[in-house]
Amino acid sequence: MIKFIYLFISISPIAWNVEAASLLFNGNCATCHFTHKAVSAPSVDEIRARYLQAFPTKTEFVAYMTNWVTNPKKETSLMHDKIEKYGLMPQMAFEKDVVKEIAEYIYNGDVEATTR
Ligand code: HEC
Repeated sequence: MIKFIYLFISISPIAWNVEAASLLFNGNCATCHFTHKAVSAPSVDEIRARYLQAFPTKTEFVAYMTNWVTNPKKETSLMHDKIEKYGLMPQMAFEKDVVKEIAEYIYNGDVEATTR
């Protein structure tokens, strides 16, 4: 029993974070953003690649994406071609903390691992 509890405590934080972020992504973003396929919005693959090019460090990547998603504007977009194609992403009432977690999840490449 003690061993079991120890194991639970030692592995759960990471697994919990990825799972929680996956739920947040699916609940807030996945209706428009698919992982690999661009339908009504760019895919996560496309977004991640574009953001990584501009912001290779996690801190900058996450900060920029969090700010943009909570306040989408043409002037600060990294994806003007996508705005022309799909229209500007609508402003939604996302919590900054929630978006930050999702941005970290995208940066880490965990969307690949936890979605289809
Ligand atoms: C109602 C549909 C919709 C939802 C929901 C949505 N997006 Fe978007 N998003 C778009 C569209 C369309 C674009 C492409 C046009 C643009 O860049 O504004 C986009 C673009 C983006 C971009 C590129 C920004 C740039 O530099 O132009 C990021 C990052 C992004 N979305 C993240 C998210 C995240 C994270 C969520 C969930 C919290 C989310 N989106 C929810 C429609 C949506």
